[in-house]
Amino acid sequence: MSDVLDFAAVSVRRGGKTLLDGIDWTIKEGERWVVLGPNGAGKTTLMQIAGTRMHPSSGTATILGEKLGRVDVFELRPLIGLSSAALAAQIPEQETVLNVVVTAAYGATGRWREEYEKLDERRAFHLLHEWGMSTLINRPFGSLSEGERKRVQIARALMTDPELLILDEPAAGLDLGGREDLVSRLATLAADEAAPAMVLVTHHLEEIPPGFTHVLMLREGGVVAAGELGATLTEENLAATFDADLKLIDNGGRYTALAR
Ligand SMILES: Nc1ncnc2c1ncn2[C@@H]1O[C@H](COP(=O)(O)OP(=O)(O)OP(=O)(O)O)[C@@H](O)[C@H]1O
Ligand SMILES: [Mg+2]
Repeated sequence: MSDVLDFAAVSVRRGGKTLLDGIDWTIKEGERWVVLGPNGAGKTTLMQIAGTRMHPSSGTATILGEKLGRVDVFELRPLIGLSSAALAAQIPEQETVLNVVVTAAYGATGRWREEYEKLDERRAFHLLHEWGMSTLINRPFGSLSEGERKRVQIARALMTDPELLILDEPAAGLDLGGREDLVSRLATLAADEAAPAMVLVTHHLEEIPPGFTHVLMLREGGVVAAGELGATLTEENLAATFDADLKLIDNGGRYTALAR
């Protein structure tokens, strides 16, 4: 069984700037990773590579046993569920919630085929039901609240039954109740052995769902620390990542960090 993801010395350079600098990172089946780092650390760039939307300038990125550059990314993409602000921005405002999810089965944003398989519609409905959206399936995506949009995006990312689920800041813009609801839903997903390997990008330790197993900490395009969450999420590593003197508080698997 190959690793879900294996990056070796992955670098990205754009316009004379190094966005990622020699990243080594391995994700094994069943692992749930949190990616932490300040604004501009390179988190989204790294997710773009993991989601096959971008190739490294150097180094090798192997995803689900396939090396980027040697594989048709359109064959790989259905195996990777991706939710990001950039993808959400591509969803037409008038598209119905059900269509936003069902079109993921065809790798399209925006409904381009008249007849969908009944099976696909049923799966989309089932996912929307699981994510608390079953009463809103006919609503235009553009009319949803931020929290509702986030849940539709996750349902969409899960539509193809992926082997890797990438969520880039899924809780951004949510109110306190919405955040807690999402964290609890993600904790349930993390506990599901049948769920895909997961990567969740966040700025806030409060958004780490219980059950997440590993953490990757980035700063200025480089890895500060990577490994099992319990051993790696330390005050020392937080200080090195965020360049701040932080006190780490563990409330029984829910974390917070405050300036000293
Ligand atoms: N095409 C590009 N050309 C030059 N610089 C770029 C390009 N794309 C991104 N960058 C820069 O790369 C750096 C990393 O960006 P990235 O979006 O990966 O950071 P991030 O960790 O996701 O930040 P945030 O927490 O704000 O989302 C930023 O300084 C950004 O301005
Ligand atoms: Mg980002």
